[in-house]
Amino acid sequence: MTERNETGSVKAKVAVLGAGVMGAPIARNLLRAGFAVRVWNRTRQKAEALAQEGAQVADSPAEAASGAEFLITMLTDGAAVHSAMNGVDGALATLAPDAVWVQMSTVGVGATQHLAQLAEGRVGFVDAPVSGSSQPAERGELLVLASGHPVLRPRVQPLFDAVGQRTLWLEHLGDGSRFKLVLNNWLAVLVEGMAETVSLTEALGLTPELLLDTLAESPLGSAYATAKGHAMVDHDFTPGFPLHHAGKDAALALEAADRQGMELPLTATLLKRWDEAIAGGHADDDVAAAVTAAR
Ligand SMILES: NC(=O)c1ccc[n+]([C@@H]2O[C@H](COP(=O)([O-])OP(=O)(O)OC[C@H]3O[C@@H](n4cnc5c(N)ncnc54)[C@H](OP(=O)(O)O)[C@@H]3O)[C@@H](O)[C@H]2O)c1
Repeated sequence: MTERNETGSVKAKVAVLGAGVMGAPIARNLLRAGFAVRVWNRTRQKAEALAQEGAQVADSPAEAASGAEFLITMLTDGAAVHSAMNGVDGALATLAPDAVWVQMSTVGVGATQHLAQLAEGRVGFVDAPVSGSSQPAERGELLVLASGHPVLRPRVQPLFDAVGQRTLWLEHLGDGSRFKLVLNNWLAVLVEGMAETVSLTEALGLTPELLLDTLAESPLGSAYATAKGHAMVDHDFTPGFPLHHAGKDAALALEAADRQGMELPLTATLLKRWDEAIAGGHADDDVAAAVTAAR
C-alpha cells in the first residue's frame, strides 16, 4: 500500500543501512520529516528499536533496498559498506536503477572512489559524510559535506534538510570525503594539543581550570577543544565521538596525504599515542580519552 505523509503526498521511501550512533538518529529524523524508512542493521536489535517510531525493519540490505528511492549507508568503514552493498543479500542486488545511494559513512578517499565505481552504471551516487557527533545528529543539526552529479542535488536535498542544519555542496565527486578528512584532521590535532597541554599544565603545578578559563576568553581558545579539555579534567569519557572512530579518521587522513606524497607528522605521532589509549581499553570512550596517553 502506498504510504502518505501528513500533507497527503506520497512518502518517499528511504532505506537506511546502519542503526548505530549516527544511523539511528538519521533514520529518526527522516521519519519525523515524513519519509517512509526501512532500516537494516547487522545486529538486528538496534534496527528494531526504531520500529516503534515507524520504521520497517529489514532482514538484509537487499530487502531494505528493494523499492527504495534513496539508500543511505551509515556504517563504520569502507569494508563494512562494501559488504552491505555486494553479494546476493547486498543492497545493489535490488536497488532500482533510478534510485540514489547516499554514502554518509566516513570511509576516506580510496574507499569512496571504490564505492563510486561500484555504483557507476547501476545507481546514482552521492558522497555525503557528515560533521557533528551524536547530539547534533539527534537534533538534526549535522553539517552534510556533499558531492555528486548536479542533477542529483535537488533530489537528495530534502533528505539532507531532514538530518542536517546545513549542506555544503562541493564541486567534484569525492570532495565531500576529502573535506571530511581535512576537518577531522584538524579535530585530531586540536584534541591531542589539548590533551598534552592539560597534562603539561598539571605537571607544572598549575590548575587546568586556569588554562580552560583563560582559553575560553581568549582568541587562542576553540569551543570544541575547551569542551574536550573539561571532559579530560573531569575524566568524563561518555562517548560523543568515540576514540576508535577518531583514530580511524586520523589513519584515513594519513593515507590520503600519502597518496599525495606528503606527510602529516603531527597526525602520525598522535595516532601512535591514540592506539595506546585504544589498547588500554578506551576504544569506545570519547576522543577526550586521548588524555590517558598524554599523562
Ligand atoms: N559518532 C560520531 O560522532 C560520528 C560523527 C561523524 C561521522 N561518523 C562516522 O559515521 C559512521 C558511523 O558511525 P557511528 O558512530 O554510527 O558508528 P557505530 O555506532 O559504531 O555504528 C557502526 C555501524 O556499522 C555497522 N557495521 C560495522 N561493521 C560492519 C560490517 N562489517 N558489516 C555490516 N555492518 C557493520 C554496525 O553494525 P552492528 O550494530 O552490528 O555493530 C553499526 O550499524 C562512521 O564512519 C563514523 O566515522 C561518526
